[in-house]
Amino acid sequence: MGRFAAGLFAAGLATLTYGSPIRTHHGLSVQLSVADGLLNTSTDGRIVLLLAPTGVDPLEDQDVITSPDHFFGKNVYRFDGGDTAFLAGGAGFYQPKTGVYGYPNVSLDDVAAGDYVRITPTPTWHPAALTIQAILTPYERVTRSDGSVVSVKFPCGDGSLPVNGPGSLTTVATNITISGQPQVEKLIFTDITPVEEFNGTEIGGCSQYVGANVLLPHGYQANDTSTQYPTLYHQNHWAADAGAYNYLTSEAFAAAWDSGIIPETNITAERETPKMIIVQFRHETAFYDDSYAVNTANIGPYGDALNDELLPYLEKTFNMISAPYARVQDGGSTGGWESIANTIFRPDLFGVCFSSYPDSLDFHRHQAIPLYSVDNAYTLPSGENITSIRENINGTLTNVTAVLQENHWELTFGTSSRSQLQWDVWNAVFGAQGYNNYPLEPWDKVTGEVFHEAVEYWKPMDLGMHVATNWDNELNLGKALAGRIFVYVGSWDNYFLNLGVLEFQKTVDAKGGAGWANITVLEEQPHGGNYQRREIWNYLDLVAGWVQDHAPNGTTPLSADATSPSTRGNKWEDVIARGGHQAAVARQSWPVAHKDGRSVHASVGTWDPGMKLTAQWVVNGRPVTKPVAVKQGDSLTFKKHGKVQLAVTGHKRGYTDETRRSKTIAT
Ligand SMILES: *[C@@H]1O[C@H](CO)[C@@H](O)[C@H](O)[C@H]1NC(C)=O
Ligand SMILES: *[C@@H]1O[C@H](CO)[C@@H](O)[C@H](O)[C@H]1NC(C)=O
Ligand SMILES: *[C@@H]1O[C@H](CO)[C@@H](O)[C@H](O)[C@H]1NC(C)=O
Ligand SMILES: *[C@@H]1O[C@H](CO)[C@@H](O)[C@H](O)[C@H]1NC(C)=O
Ligand SMILES: *[C@@H]1O[C@H](CO)[C@@H](O)[C@H](O)[C@H]1NC(C)=O
Ligand SMILES: *[C@@H]1O[C@H](CO)[C@@H](O)[C@H](O)[C@H]1NC(C)=O
Ligand SMILES: *[C@@H]1O[C@H](CO)[C@@H](O)[C@H](O)[C@H]1NC(C)=O
Ligand SMILES: *[C@@H]1O[C@H](CO)[C@@H](O)[C@H](O)[C@H]1NC(C)=O
Ligand SMILES: *[C@@H]1O[C@H](CO)[C@@H](O)[C@H](O)[C@H]1NC(C)=O
Ligand SMILES: *[C@@H]1O[C@H](CO)[C@@H](O)[C@H](O)[C@H]1NC(C)=O
Ligand SMILES: *[C@@H]1O[C@H](CO)[C@@H](O)[C@H](O)[C@H]1NC(C)=O
Repeated sequence: MGRFAAGLFAAGLATLTYGSPIRTHHGLSVQLSVADGLLNTSTDGRIVLLLAPTGVDPLEDQDVITSPDHFFGKNVYRFDGGDTAFLAGGAGFYQPKTGVYGYPNVSLDDVAAGDYVRITPTPTWHPAALTIQAILTPYERVTRSDGSVVSVKFPCGDGSLPVNGPGSLTTVATNITISGQPQVEKLIFTDITPVEEFNGTEIGGCSQYVGANVLLPHGYQANDTSTQYPTLYHQNHWAADAGAYNYLTSEAFAAAWDSGIIPETNITAERETPKMIIVQFRHETAFYDDSYAVNTANIGPYGDALNDELLPYLEKTFNMISAPYARVQDGGSTGGWESIANTIFRPDLFGVCFSSYPDSLDFHRHQAIPLYSVDNAYTLPSGENITSIRENINGTLTNVTAVLQENHWELTFGTSSRSQLQWDVWNAVFGAQGYNNYPLEPWDKVTGEVFHEAVEYWKPMDLGMHVATNWDNELNLGKALAGRIFVYVGSWDNYFLNLGVLEFQKTVDAKGGAGWANITVLEEQPHGGNYQRREIWNYLDLVAGWVQDHAPNGTTPLSADATSPSTRGNKWEDVIARGGHQAAVARQSWPVAHKDGRSVHASVGTWDPGMKLTAQWVVNGRPVTKPVAVKQGDSLTFKKHGKVQLAVTGHKRGYTDETRRSKTIAT
């Protein structure tokens, strides 16, 4: 959890125009071109147009909570320096090739003359003068090892910004006045956002390597190989960003760690710092600032890269104890999920996790969404919006943003789960690849309609379900993981993550009885803090104590069975076989027709979940019926002489329209 908080156009044409003619729109439209020499190659990408009250920097005005003014997004394909893009209309678009999508689910025509209104928290009136700025995020077209091709933005040490990362083209922020009449604003991309601040040359800068920050204890001596240390793998967001949920960044911690002496505190008398090594991984990806540290069909084998390539290298390079009892996982939020997922998927490698307020552990509750049982992810049958963020305002839990609002916000930054924001990365991590090569989304991003078949693909990443279904088979997780899972969450978690923790607890308690996993719910506590909100040294004592107890000479040594290679889950070959490109191809089928007396029966075929289908009968090569809406699994019957064929057309946001025809049946 982190908050700030394909289709092709024909190549060879010199100039392409994107979008519908401007004159059909009655409000604001924007024409975008590129300054000479700024874009020498053609590129796919996402244009985002930001609108802010005059005097506000549009780039500072795109947060879902603090600055929810209008902004708009549109994809471009094979766009080059000679091309022009038009942004007009919008809202509820269907074809991402031509469509503009506006936040909050609005059209450019909705940008009213006269006064400009902020949406929340309280409508505030502004003059009609706006500052507008456009940003083009170029995508790179890449082929995965399973053959699927995607156009995505690879981050460049910026932790995957949704807009204006290094390499983005920008226009100068311009003041305009909304006339209320058809109005065309012409903007020119004149600048490229440079790579700044970051200088991660140690992990290759813009190259997509994984890396680690390694914190050595006081007194560590590289040449003293007889002194070996336990290692705490502290999962967190992009590690170059010393951001939230990171106790390592506290000045008091750093001072004590450096000096090797913990000053006398209210909890403990002055003594030496614990002797352990702390590692933070760096793994920003094309979908988020962080890969989620496991193997996923959309992002790749990051679990293996970190655990089977980088970790052995670290252990060889530093004096780390190479045994599961001395490898501890911890983290909060995204890191909370990563730490427990790595322990549950790799009992052979990691001894224990201290997971704090983790992202959804069990998708019976994905944040507040009862994902397995609802047909809409945004609204309950009562019509009530499902909340995403709540805050404790003077002792009262107050709902702040809705799931609907955040998803619409993300959709403006990128289609096909490419916003590099929270809901989208969950789609990438938890889901399979779609037949369009992008994450198979669990619900329609505009309407919230849940696609249950797409949700089925999430189940291997439902950690409660993974434990329960592998309880006493060859993975034997019931025995292996007993006593190794520690989770803490606040009952007032700002993102309702306590609900997923409680579902997880229910699932594993049903198998192993109360206490199989050690779950702490702290009443009325929000998202954040160290494990159990302990003071940092007290927490590190707990970690050190666990390691000591589970060492070979400790009171409860970890058994060889508990860390057997057979306990391992989330294997790359399984992940990609089930969720990769070949699986997406294999789940498709074409309409099948057969003769039944003098009629023809035809099935509509199998398509990706969420495809809207229409079917039409074709006789002797010509359509003879109007297209009718059909559903997956439907069969149709038709009676007419000739060479009869069923043609089914499927469409879905983010997919190229496709028509599949049955074989011809002569009647
Ligand atoms: C594009 O090509 C021109 C002429 O070769 C060059 O001056 C310019 O720097 C190039 N621009 C980029 C962004 O590479
Ligand atoms: C836009 O308007 C603001 C507020 O009136 C002003 O401070 C700013 O200088 C203007 N920008 C330009 C480029 O004219
Ligand atoms: C989004 O906008 C479209 C088009 O205006 C509208 O049909 C749809 O109901 C809106 N959806 C939501 C969830 O607001
Ligand atoms: C990299 O950044 C760090 C911290 O911002 C700075 O101290 C260092 O000088 C920079 N190194 C280079 C090579 O620019
Ligand atoms: C390691 O190197 C340091 C400094 O060169 C030296 O003082 C120390 O004795 C060495 N330790 C061992 C165990 O060799
Ligand atoms: C749900 O949220 C939408 C968008 O913010 C809003 O228009 C609608 O009124 C809300 N519905 C309810 C029942 O609160
Ligand atoms: C806040 O949102 C949650 C989750 O959608 C809901 O259960 C609760 O009823 C909402 N509370 C209020 C006061 O609206
Ligand atoms: C919260 O309480 C403080 C102090 O009583 C008060 O100043 C503030 O306005 C309150 N905030 C809200 C949102 O009620
Ligand atoms: C759970 O673990 C904590 C330490 O994190 C410990 O204090 C507590 O006693 C444990 N609870 C149970 C029921 O074992
Ligand atoms: C210890 O006491 C200091 C000073 O009173 C306080 O700032 C700090 O929060 C306390 N720490 C803990 C862990 O209670
Ligand atoms: C276990 O072995 C380690 C390393 O040899 C040693 O530091 C520790 O004191 C021993 N613990 C016990 C309980 O004997």
